[in-house]
This record gives sequence, C-alpha cells and structure tokens, in this order.
Amino acid sequence: MKTNQQIIIAIDGFSSTGKSTIAKQLAKKLGYLYVDTGAMYRAVTLFAIQRGFVTEKLLDKKKLIESLDEIDLKFKYNDRLHFSEMYLNGKNVEKEIRTLEVSKLVSKISTVSAVRKKLVEQQQKMGLRKGLVMDGRDIGTVVFPNAELKLFMTASPKKRAVRRYKELLDKGEDVTYEEILQNVQQRDLIDSTRADSPLKKADGAIEFDNSDMGLKEQFERVYNMALRRIKEANE
Ligand code: DC
Repeated sequence: MKTNQQIIIAIDGFSSTGKSTIAKQLAKKLGYLYVDTGAMYRAVTLFAIQRGFVTEKLLDKKKLIESLDEIDLKFKYNDRLHFSEMYLNGKNVEKEIRTLEVSKLVSKISTVSAVRKKLVEQQQKMGLRKGLVMDGRDIGTVVFPNAELKLFMTASPKKRAVRRYKELLDKGEDVTYEEILQNVQQRDLIDSTRADSPLKKADGAIEFDNSDMGLKEQFERVYNMALRRIKEANE
C-alpha cells in the first residue's frame, strides 16, 4: 500500500466562476501548491502590450513568437499575503496583470499556439511531484489529462459579471457593469471557440455550477471530493 501519495487537482471553467478562490482554499487546506495559470497568460499579455505587439485592433503574432525566449515567468510566494505572486522578467506584476486592459486582450494572446506550448511545458514541470492544485482553461484537457481530480466550474454570465465588477470596484478601477458583462461574454466566446485547446469539460471532469452556491458549501463539497481521490490514490 502507498502512503502519503499526493494527487493533482485540475480546475477549469469560464472566467470569474470562482475557480481561483476554491483552488486557493483547497491548496491551503491540503498543503499543496496552487498555480493560477491565468496569471501566466496575463503576464505574457502584459509583455505584449509593453512591446506594442497587441492592441484591441492588432496582434503581431510573428514578433510575439520571436520574443518568447525573452519572457521569464516565475511565481514567488508572498509570506505576508499567503499567496504566490506573478513575476515577469524579475518584476512583480501581480497588480498590472489584473487590470481591465489586460483582461480585454488576454484571450487574443491565449489563441497563439506557441504561447500555449511554452506555458503548458512550464505548467507540466510544476506537476512532476504532484501535490498541486492548478486552475485555468485547459488543465484537465491538455496540461494534466490524467489528473486524479478534475473539476469544471460554471456559473451564469450575469452572476460572474457581478462578481468581477465588485472585485474591480474594490480595487478602485473605473469600470461599468455593462463593460464587464461584455468582457465576460466576449472572453467566453473566444476561450471556448479557439482552435488550440478550447475551453471544454475534460473527460472524467465533474461539472460544478456555483451560480447559487455559497463559498462554504462549495468548498466543503470540493474538499470531500479531493479527500476521496487522495484515499483512492493511497489504496
Ligand atoms: O483565469 P483568468 O481569467 O485569469 O484567465 C485569463 C485568460 O487566460 C482567459 O481569458 C483565457 C486564458 N487562459 C487560457 O487560455 N488557458 C489557461 N490555462 C488559463 C487562462
């Protein structure tokens, strides 16, 4: 019998479905590493904005692909905030990657296969020792198709837009609800219809609609699923 065998938990879903909140809580409770892959796509987007490779009207794929080797992404744990922050070429970009400007362009950058290839390789390395909760759009389908627990989170676009709107207002961003709803719907469309690794429920994933579920109930359900899968992995 194996003991203390850790597992991989893959959480996918549309934007603002509360994936990261659940993933973070789960990782903390299990003592696992949490990886927010959306932050990695956001950091590449920030890089592309800074270099002028992407705007709402254009995307210079060629230049972006040629510059991929100049992008160094790292997560560093912040002891005070109990959270891993995203560093782009040595600089903490946690705040800059969460702005509406980046949110508006990130789906476009995520359609570029060479970007996905680079990030997926990095993500797979992080899972070599298991003990990981990773959230994103293609974790159960592409990054870890053999993950012991796969979840697919959903919620209505309106509920998600309200959540996101409140988050951005709390951060002092000057945004309107309509603008956010539009961004959520546009990202859903691009994320689920792109040619490379579109967002879809992975084989064997458990679908979880949390439109009308509180955080506590969600967490308890997911935590119990994880405990069951850990037990199975140790049998
Ligand atoms: O989870 P998020 O909203 O921070 O993700 C930002 C964008 O990154 C999302 O619109 C799609 C993309 N993404 C992706 O294509 N694949 C992932 N594994 C994670 C995010």
